[in-house]
Amino acid sequence: MTNFTRDFFIGLSNNKFLNEHARRWGFRFGADKFVAGTTIEDVIHTIRKLNMWGISCTIDNLGEFVSEKAEALKAKEQIIAILEAIYNENLDCHLSVKLTQLGLDIEQEFCVDNMREILDKARQYDVFVNIDMEDYAHYIQTLDVLKALRAKYDNVGTVIQSYLYRTEDDLEELKNVRLRLVKGAYKEREEIAYQTKEEIDREYILIAKKRLLGDAFTSLATHDHHIINELLHFIRENNISKDKFEFQMLYGFRREMQYDIAQKGYNFCTYIPFGNDWFGYFMRRLAERPQNMNLVMKDVFYS
Ligand code: FDA
Repeated sequence: MTNFTRDFFIGLSNNKFLNEHARRWGFRFGADKFVAGTTIEDVIHTIRKLNMWGISCTIDNLGEFVSEKAEALKAKEQIIAILEAIYNENLDCHLSVKLTQLGLDIEQEFCVDNMREILDKARQYDVFVNIDMEDYAHYIQTLDVLKALRAKYDNVGTVIQSYLYRTEDDLEELKNVRLRLVKGAYKEREEIAYQTKEEIDREYILIAKKRLLGDAFTSLATHDHHIINELLHFIRENNISKDKFEFQMLYGFRREMQYDIAQKGYNFCTYIPFGNDWFGYFMRRLAERPQNMNLVMKDVFYS
């Protein structure tokens, strides 16, 4: 994909007007291939099916960059309702949350309070909560919030992005934290992030190997079979125990490969987004992979 096309979709993903209006449109452009429905009931059905295949899930109540307290509080209540559903339905599932959905842009302490309520309930139900990493503008705040929460909770972790130069240095401080490793989905400046696929992939492999040799649990989140194969080789060569890591992919991507990895006895977790706030998430998926545009075309021409 050209940088122009990638930047175009990332630009759309940040567009407030389109994000707000898309909530009212319902799913469009084939977004339903990547978003598992609008209600908790829709998602429970999907998670149950994946659990039957030996795949665990992480569930994301879509939404980000919230600027009104009332909206952040509503999101917190929805997330607590999801926790209730995970517990009541006995699902093999944890939570993924975005701090900007819980008020990080409004006031950091307000966001921490919302997270505390979520984590209290999650701890009661023995559910892990992962904080997604957003753009670099929120990076330091996210690590600050994580640190404040880790003082009281051990059922919380976050995400590291291999495209950031500083990730390797930050690993030391995060060495005891459960982390998800990703390449990074936002457009970041050359001053702070690697720009080429070669560099980002090289860093991903380097960081993944360091984490696999360390003590804390790591979720290896990628659809890249070259990287997965290299890491599987490394895992076998170094006798790394299967309970120290899992592979993760997004809902709707490389389904056969997801089943295949789980069937081979590795822990596998599918990231399940749901809700009306699908636009920003979907635009970032288009930015990553031009082939996803085929779905948009089919939807436009055949619906
Ligand atoms: P990439 O997109 O570089 O693809 C590499 C190669 O894999 C392709 O060239 C192709 O050969 C193959 N491939 C990829 N997709 C394929 C497909 N559908 N079919 C066939 N071949 C395919 N980002 C972030 O900044 N913060 C976050 O919190 C998260 N969270 C997150 C959770 C999970 C579970 C995942 C999988 C990803 C994220 N991300 C994320 C997104 C992440 O940063 C990244 O943008 C995407 O995963 C795309 O990068 P990949 O590693 O998948 O490979």
